[in-house]
Amino acid sequence: MVWTKKDLLGLEYLTQEEIELILDTAESFKEISTREIKKVPALRGKTAVNLFYEPSTRTRVSFEVAAKRLSADVINIATETSSVRKGETLIDTGKNIQALKADIIIMRHNYSGAANMLARALDISVVNAGDGWHEHPTQALLDMFTLKEKLGKIKGLNVAIVGDIAHSRVARSNIWGLTKLGAQVTLCAPEILLPVGIEKTGVKVTSNIDQALENADAVNVLRMQFERDEGAAFPEQLDYYQRFGITEERLAKAKKNIIVMHPGPINRGVEMSSEVADGANSVILEQVTNGIAVRMAVLFLVAQAGEVKK
Ligand code: CP
Repeated sequence: MVWTKKDLLGLEYLTQEEIELILDTAESFKEISTREIKKVPALRGKTAVNLFYEPSTRTRVSFEVAAKRLSADVINIATETSSVRKGETLIDTGKNIQALKADIIIMRHNYSGAANMLARALDISVVNAGDGWHEHPTQALLDMFTLKEKLGKIKGLNVAIVGDIAHSRVARSNIWGLTKLGAQVTLCAPEILLPVGIEKTGVKVTSNIDQALENADAVNVLRMQFERDEGAAFPEQLDYYQRFGITEERLAKAKKNIIVMHPGPINRGVEMSSEVADGANSVILEQVTNGIAVRMAVLFLVAQAGEVKK
């Protein structure tokens, strides 16, 4: 199949075939990072701009590494020191970056839908690096890439997603991606962090952690987003850890080879113990490494489609 979209905004908008194309392209790019000279000329002459309105370590650096491995030029805009501080709108900022002849904007924003809005306003490519509670498509893609690498398939897997589902763009993108590729997803969270009606997306829902882990091939543990807890609705950290924290004792009751994932950053002793985070079942740092290949694939595909549309 041929990729035709100039933007990557969310897994909701992709077909099963398009998701598989990204994962297959990422597989072919992964080897580049093992070479002595970790670079290919695929995006030579292209410029990618990292425009991050929220903090990030993994995603921002990973996109920069990915773009550089493809020989693109990369510019990082820190919104705290840009004209955003003078009140410039998102669309004006985007149009100016376009006028500076960039080819791709990689954006993280605190508002859900911000990436969709920018993509509609611009001719150049927009890649969503996380928008509010909406989607974080490249995180879900690297999660699925890691699952496929470790377990050989996605279809038929039982994947538990545990934690702050309500505020999680990672959960939403994973739900779209995993269900489209034929996995069974079980969401596990305190009742207050489970969006009403989420079952309609085809997932199972429970507030019993042992039940969620019972038959799981993998557990994706979400970060508790305390910074978004304006109404102080979250359970106390200790209470949360006692009810939902992934510990060695809980893992001992799950499948022996269950894969433990986390998008990062981890709150150790809240979402999981350090023994689990650093233990034999954890693939957390492998997820980070796989993010490079997945983001190389995304940048390569959207740049090609953007070229056709110019
Ligand atoms: N997983 C993730 O989005 O991490 P960062 O916030 O560090 O980019």
